[in-house]
Amino acid sequence: FDLREGETANVGSLRELKAQAEHCKRCDLYKHATQTVFGEGPMQAEIVLIGEQPGDKEDLAGRPFVGPAGAVLNESLSRAGIDRERCYITNTVKHFKFTQRGKRRLHSKPNAGEIRTCAWWLRSELKLIEPKIIVALGTTAAGYLVGKAIRITKDRGTIFRPQNLPPVLVTIHPSYILRIRDRHAANAEQIKFVHDLNRLKEVL
Ligand code: URA
Repeated sequence: FDLREGETANVGSLRELKAQAEHCKRCDLYKHATQTVFGEGPMQAEIVLIGEQPGDKEDLAGRPFVGPAGAVLNESLSRAGIDRERCYITNTVKHFKFTQRGKRRLHSKPNAGEIRTCAWWLRSELKLIEPKIIVALGTTAAGYLVGKAIRITKDRGTIFRPQNLPPVLVTIHPSYILRIRDRHAANAEQIKFVHDLNRLKEVL
């Protein structure tokens, strides 16, 4: 990932950028999704949090991290003493990709082409915001920003300094915590997540 590589949208504000993204047809994901789920937060944000892609709830609401994973994220940020309102929260891919199972829409991973194509928006967001630090939530964001060799279990809690990007703190995706059935194990994992988020203070 290189912020200088590739063009970005020629706009001066996040509002204009978001308006452009509403009509995005750069890849086919817009065809089945309800709407573009763009990033949200102030242009002055020091922290940019990047997930994978909107989930079912986000697709319907048109806002990032408002579903179950968002609830875990909110609680963890608050435990780490970080105000969500002061962060910019976005996703690597801006449309929900899913497979239909009866009435349920099951999350399906974005592929490398979709990620690369959608990076047009992420690059544009990062150029406008110029954050002090990026938090990569999970493999999709971390792999794209830091490189494919990333292993979340090994690299979580580490701050990487890729060329031409602000520092990137790698951590798990909050939905990982939701998938742990055992409540004690899930709690322990959330404590580790909060611990990772605490490292942000080293850069701010
Ligand atoms: N998971 C993500 O990666 N992003 C969202 O916005 C919601 C869930």
